[in-house]
Order: sequence, then C-alpha cells, then structure tokens
Amino acid sequence: MSLGEGSTPLLPAPRLSGRLGLDVRLKWEGANPTGSFKDRGMTIAIAKALEEGTEAVVCASTGNTAASAAAYAARAGLAAVVLQPAGAVASGKLAQARALGARLLEVEGSFEDALESARELAERGSHVLVNSLNPYRLEGQKTAAFEIAEELGGPPDVLALPYGGGGNTCAYARGFAEWGAGEPMLLAVESGNRARTVASAIRIREPVHAAGVAEAIERSKGSVVTVSDDDILAAWRSLAREEGVFCEPASAAALAGVEASGLAPGTRVVCVITGHGLKDPETAARESPAATPVYADSASIAEAAA
Ligand code: F0G
Repeated sequence: MSLGEGSTPLLPAPRLSGRLGLDVRLKWEGANPTGSFKDRGMTIAIAKALEEGTEAVVCASTGNTAASAAAYAARAGLAAVVLQPAGAVASGKLAQARALGARLLEVEGSFEDALESARELAERGSHVLVNSLNPYRLEGQKTAAFEIAEELGGPPDVLALPYGGGGNTCAYARGFAEWGAGEPMLLAVESGNRARTVASAIRIREPVHAAGVAEAIERSKGSVVTVSDDDILAAWRSLAREEGVFCEPASAAALAGVEASGLAPGTRVVCVITGHGLKDPETAARESPAATPVYADSASIAEAAA
C-alpha cells in the first residue's frame, strides 16, 4: 500500500541561512504524493484498515488529511468520507479530495465540529477514523525524523514545524526519541489567531494533542511559538523568493517561528515545510503581483520585461 511517500528532500537554504546567520535546512514535505506530510501516516492507517477488513474510512480535515485519505483509500479500494468545515478549506485540497472520489461533506461549523462528527460516525462501527487519533498515523509520520537524523548524521539543534492539532509535533518527538541520538529543541509554531488565520491548514482552536505537545516541548527544552499572520506571510514570501520553495501558508509558520526565536548564530535548524503551495492558489494569487497583459510584439514585450 504505497504511492511513493516519504524519502523527501532535505534542502539547504543558503540565502535564508546567510540572512539569519543560522544553518537552515528545509524538510520538503510538499514532495509527498498528495503534496503534504499526511501521506506518511495515511499509508499505514489505510493499510491497517484494509488488513482489519474495513470497507470505509472517515476523517475530519482542514484539507490535507482529506486529500491524503482520499488518495490512499482509492489506492486500497476503500470508500472515504471526509468532513470539512464549510468555506474554510483551500481550493486545491477540495479539488483533490473530490477528484480522488471521496464523499465530501461540508459541515456548517468549525474543524472541531467536523472532528466530533467524524468520531461519532466511526463509533457506529461502519468507518475507521483516520485522523491523527488513529495511532498508526503518528507511527508513519515519525519516519520523517528518521530521515533527517540519518541524513545529518544525528538530530539538528532545532526542529521547527507548524502546530495545528499537534500530531506532527508528537510524531517528530517520538521519531527522534526512537532514533536514540538525542532530541532537537522543538519549536511548535502556531498562529496567534487560531480561529481565523490565513494559514487555513492550522485553523484549529483546540489542539487534540495539546498534552503530548506540552510534554515533548518540555522534554526538548523547546517552546510553543506564537506568530502573526503577517509574520507567516512574510516567511511564505521569503521561502518562495529566496529559496524557490513554494509552500502553503501554514508551512511557512515554521520559518516565521525561527525568525521570532532569536537563536544563536550558527544553530543547525530544520524547518518542516509541511505542504505544497499549489494547495492554496487563492492565497498565492492574492499575495503576489498580478500578470501584466502584453501585445505579442517584441517591442512591447521588451518594454514590459525590463
Ligand atoms: N501543515 C499543514 C500543511 C497541515 O495540513 C497541518 C494539519 C499542519 C501543518 C499541522 O499539523 O495538526 O499535526 O499539528 N492539517 C490537518 C488536516 C489538520 O486536516 O489536514 P498538526
């Protein structure tokens, strides 16, 4: 049961590193089959559901879990129901879940309402829940920590990642702990406006894994870093323009958190870039210069290109 997930690039970030005086690398999780880190855990959750004789899965999602569940369910020949907060999911993710054949249900309410409904459907016994409350999800997601430790010959000093529900923070903590060569200081980066942030992937008011995150943060002597939407968008722009990495806004929270943390010069930092920029074309269009219309003649093109 695979679509070729994992083994994603760990990209050096020379311009960012130079500007910040740090040694920054980017774990490029947008390179996964459905464009986000969710695939690492979904492959296991769906394989286990199949092994257990399940015919259908369900999840609540801000979009990426839904797209991933839809893809792996299709691959496994299972039905998928995805519950999303109405009007709050970026269009690339909606298109993915629909194209991949999931039954897409838009819940009038928040992500929390959708999650509650997904749990209730799973409790009826007809569907297996594939949110990160499903323990196989985090088992799959922890493999990203193995890849980073293997490639760097040990953990980095600092690992920064966006903090929505907190499952991924717990997965990295577990992965580095199991690798056994020490744990990086964790920076779990959340939006100061959890209910309405531009980073729709992490528009989650009540993180399900808050206790696990608090424990992992304390053990690693890290912190939960709160950033503004402006900080997130500025980091999103630098990733694209300084390093050529086009991610969705939530993913840029990792870098925004690093920039807000005043780390010592030379610190080895890995930012987890969790999802692809094509997931959220609305934000990209709104936040970037528009195209310039030109006549197809060389003089006006030369003028416009200057
Ligand atoms: N980055 C992206 C691109 C995400 O889609 C998510 C979560 C996160 C970061 C945060 O990860 O929840 O483990 O702390 N997306 C979920 C979803 C909520 O439904 O796709 P977390």
